[in-house]
Amino acid sequence: MKLTFIGAGYVGLVTAAVFADLGNECLVVEIDEEKVQKLTKGELPFFEPGLSELVKKNVFKKRLQFTKDYKKTIPQAEIIFICVGTPTKNGKIDLSYVYSAAKSIAENLESPSLVVVKSTVPPGVNRKITKWMRRFTKVDFDLASVPEFLREGKALEDSLRPYRIVIGVEKRSVAKKLLALHKKIPGKKLVCDPASAQMIKYASNAFLPTKISFANSIAVLCDKFGANVEDVIKGMGMDKRIGPEFLGAGLGYGGSCFPKDVQALSGLSKKAGYPFSILTAVEKTNKKQVDYFVKKVLRLCGGSVKDKILVVLGLSFKPDTSDIREARSLLVISELQKKGAKISACDPVAISEARKVLKRVRFFNDPYKALREADALILVTEWEVYKNLDFVRIKKLLKSPIVIDGRNVYNRKKLEKLGFVYEGVGK
Ligand code: UDX
Repeated sequence: MKLTFIGAGYVGLVTAAVFADLGNECLVVEIDEEKVQKLTKGELPFFEPGLSELVKKNVFKKRLQFTKDYKKTIPQAEIIFICVGTPTKNGKIDLSYVYSAAKSIAENLESPSLVVVKSTVPPGVNRKITKWMRRFTKVDFDLASVPEFLREGKALEDSLRPYRIVIGVEKRSVAKKLLALHKKIPGKKLVCDPASAQMIKYASNAFLPTKISFANSIAVLCDKFGANVEDVIKGMGMDKRIGPEFLGAGLGYGGSCFPKDVQALSGLSKKAGYPFSILTAVEKTNKKQVDYFVKKVLRLCGGSVKDKILVVLGLSFKPDTSDIREARSLLVISELQKKGAKISACDPVAISEARKVLKRVRFFNDPYKALREADALILVTEWEVYKNLDFVRIKKLLKSPIVIDGRNVYNRKKLEKLGFVYEGVGK
């Protein structure tokens, strides 16, 4: 099929590359000329495992192309995907990029077409977008909703073997077309109306953080009652109705989706006259978790971190990404700096992003260099390389052998045997 994607951000780029690889002709419209030039050479604006190779391969095969020009792509597209951002500020969702893309599509339509909203938008908004587009075109079109559920760092896996594909449509014929497009992709498919599809996205991105905040509260209680959260979660997860996933306790959730979507659904529910009180607690708990962790650091460092050198391992909001949006590292570092600590920080790929926002931090690629003569090691993001550090060597490097584990990845017994003072969260 001939497919057009509006927006070469995370969602647009990954989806276009995957559909191109499945044999479709994909054109991506991106207003940023420099980005278009770079993408045409296979240079990505962010790090995602496997994506650069996939983009290069399909650009080479001419199945994936980038352009600034709506005119060139809209008239010939069989399906047009809106993949632009919907940032949220104080619970208010900014739909201006969606409306602007919808207008440009409408202005360039020449024959009946199918437009699919992939961006995360409030349930029910398709009707408003349709009305808006009709102001700019007389040509007939359908508007469907196929929300994305991509995890950063695992975007290709999630695209090629997703848990589910949700297809929100108003007509059977549109469902048929979208099911045909997704035919080569395995996974359960659910066809429903567009508002339900959009609600599925928000509900999922609010439920997973709810599980995380729940696990974090249990972890704090485990600390207080002398239980081990890892065993508790294991035991809970053995019940199929609960399941073990997304109950990883530690520093809480960050990233470009969970914080934004929890806030957005919270805001939407308030506007609808039904404040979603669980979500208020989820957000509060997530924030409190950082404070709780910082207090732990303070206590382990003897009550004060003033002028102490603390090494933060991991800056990205989770492993395998360079994304530092809403990363817990930023909050932990800023809190510790306020208390007078000198921060050294390491990350395999996020240092250049972190440099733009963090001040008075010494950055190191090599954790062993950072740890020389430092007062404590603080694990914030569980990158694989940090899980497998040589602690015999680290013991010799650190001034005081303190390890504070914000993601519960290290083995307490092993570290204590080596002479470290170790604390995780809830174990
Ligand atoms: C998430 C959703 O998983 C995805 O389906 C959606 O489309 C976009 O948002 P992503 O933001 O890439 O994906 O990251 P994810 O792997 O879900 O992790 C989000 C945050 O939760 C990270 O900060 C991670 O460290 C944290 N997390 C995750 C926990 O604290 N505990 C867990 O058990 C799992």
